[in-house]
Amino acid sequence: MALLEVDNLTMTFGSLVANRDVSFQVEAGTIVGLIGPNGAGKTTIFNCLAGMYKPTAGRIVFDGRDITRLPAWKVSRLGMARTFQVVRPLKEMTVLENILVGAYLRQADSDRAMEIALRCLKTCFLEGDKDRPAGDLTIGNKKRLEVARALATGPKLLLLDEAVAGLTSTEVRQMVGLIRGLRDEGITILMVEHIMEAIMPIADKIVVLDGGIKIAEDRPAAVVANETVIKAYFGEKFSQRLKTMKQAGAS
Ligand SMILES: Nc1ncnc2c1ncn2[C@@H]1O[C@H](COP(=O)(O)OP(=O)(O)OP(=O)(O)O)[C@@H](O)[C@H]1O
Ligand SMILES: [Mg+2]
Repeated sequence: MALLEVDNLTMTFGSLVANRDVSFQVEAGTIVGLIGPNGAGKTTIFNCLAGMYKPTAGRIVFDGRDITRLPAWKVSRLGMARTFQVVRPLKEMTVLENILVGAYLRQADSDRAMEIALRCLKTCFLEGDKDRPAGDLTIGNKKRLEVARALATGPKLLLLDEAVAGLTSTEVRQMVGLIRGLRDEGITILMVEHIMEAIMPIADKIVVLDGGIKIAEDRPAAVVANETVIKAYFGEKFSQRLKTMKQAGAS
């Protein structure tokens, strides 16, 4: 059974249909990419999955439980954590305190929570900024803090919403290594990304949305060659670049 099953998810805002009948599955232990043009409905799906929006129709099953109508705090207790596209650090608190907030979700003991937070601080390369107010971090480090805080909640499934947007190419490579490492530790990843270099080499599967509708679901190499996806999202020129990437080792 898949860790996450999305069945015919529809989310409307008045007359605007942000997601229409979207279905896909995320198998445990895999990295799944969710891509598509701006406004395709990617973040809206995350908000539905994480319990921030109540879907208009459809069903979400996580780890064998129907979570369609559950509030966000219950969903995170069940083991789903997310990062935000627009970073949301608790600005006045230090980096470590921000991560501790995540750790306290599952761990009431302060020594144990601190252990978890320090481990996540290290995993996300934030040790040097431990005591700085989170609001003072660079955008790259704020992105890492988003991941660290989500990670501290001890998730089975981590939703990453554009975790590498705005990073330098060195930071992108580091974040990709970090994501791969989390998967190797057994955390399942669903990631929204516009930077194909970050997602294509590590994803087991890519789901493509356009105008709220799923237009493709396949292995990265097949998605890159998919005419509908090229037309809706990549464009011809970009598609050529992706083919070069594939020849260079992406599968
Ligand atoms: N709370 C909301 N109220 C009204 N409309 C919304 C709301 N959230 C999202 N939308 C609309 O739903 C559509 C999908 O938005 P969404 O943020 O999910 O797109 P996206 O694929 O994440 O885009 P991007 O790549 O730019 O982040 C857009 O037309 C957006 O304006
Ligand atoms: Mg978005």
